[in-house]
Amino acid sequence: MVSRWTLFPSLSTIATPIKTWISYLKLSSKVSIRLLVESDAHTSVKWRNDPSIWLLTGSAPTRLITLDDELAWIRTVIADQSGRRFAIEVDHQYVGNTYLTNIHDARAEFHIFIGDKSVLGRGVAKEATRLVLNFARTDLALEMIELSVNPSHVVAVGLYRSLGFVPTSTVDGVLAMAVDVRKLPDQ
Ligand SMILES: CC(C)(COP(=O)(O)OP(=O)(O)OC[C@H]1O[C@@H](n2cnc3c(N)ncnc32)[C@H](O)[C@@H]1OP(=O)(O)O)[C@@H](O)C(=O)NCCC(=O)NCCS
Repeated sequence: MVSRWTLFPSLSTIATPIKTWISYLKLSSKVSIRLLVESDAHTSVKWRNDPSIWLLTGSAPTRLITLDDELAWIRTVIADQSGRRFAIEVDHQYVGNTYLTNIHDARAEFHIFIGDKSVLGRGVAKEATRLVLNFARTDLALEMIELSVNPSHVVAVGLYRSLGFVPTSTVDGVLAMAVDVRKLPDQ
C-alpha cells in the first residue's frame, strides 16, 4: 500500500522555497516606530478587545474597552514623562504598540504587542524591539531594559533572547528578563 505521505513532496524539497519566501517577507517590508498619537486609538481599540492577543500576557482587559476609554488612555500615556509609547508601522501601516515605561535611574521596562495578525511571524516585533532598544540607548542614555514574560510564551521568550535579554528571576510564575543596552552591537 502506498503511504499517503508519499504523495507529498519531502520536507527537504519544500524547506528551501519556504525559507526563501519567509526571508523575502522579512526583508521586503520596512518596520519603523513613531510616537503614539491620539488618532491611533481608533485602531488600537479593536486590538484591545481581541482576547487572542492577550492570551499569554497579564494585560487582558476585563471588560469591553470603548473608543472613549482608549482615547482617554492614549491621552494619559502620551503625557506621561516616565514613559515613551510607540506605534509600530510596517510600510507606514500601523500594526502594533511598543513601550518603554517606568523610566528612572537609567532603567526602563519594555512592552510590545502586534495587533495586526497578518504580519505575525515576519520579524516585525524583532525589528521594532531592536529599534526601541537602540532609542533607549542613544536617545535616552538608558543602560538596563527589563521586562516580565510568561515563561510558557515561547515566541516572546525566544524573541527577547534573540535580542540579548537574559533571565534574571522567576517570581510567582513570571519570568523577569533584562538586557544591558550598552553592550548591544551598534545598529
Ligand atoms: C510575541 C509577539 C510580539 C511576537 O511578534 P512577531 O512579530 O510575530 O515576532 P517576530 O516574527 O519578530 O519573531 C521574532 C523572534 O521570535 C522568536 N520566535 C518566533 N517564533 C518562535 C517560536 N515558535 N519559538 C521560539 N522562538 C520564536 C525568534 O527568535 C524570532 O526571531 P528569528 O526568526 O530571527 O529567530 C506577538 O506574537 C504578539 O504581539 N503577541 C501578543 C502580545 C504578546 O504576547 N506580547 C508579549 C508579551 S511579553
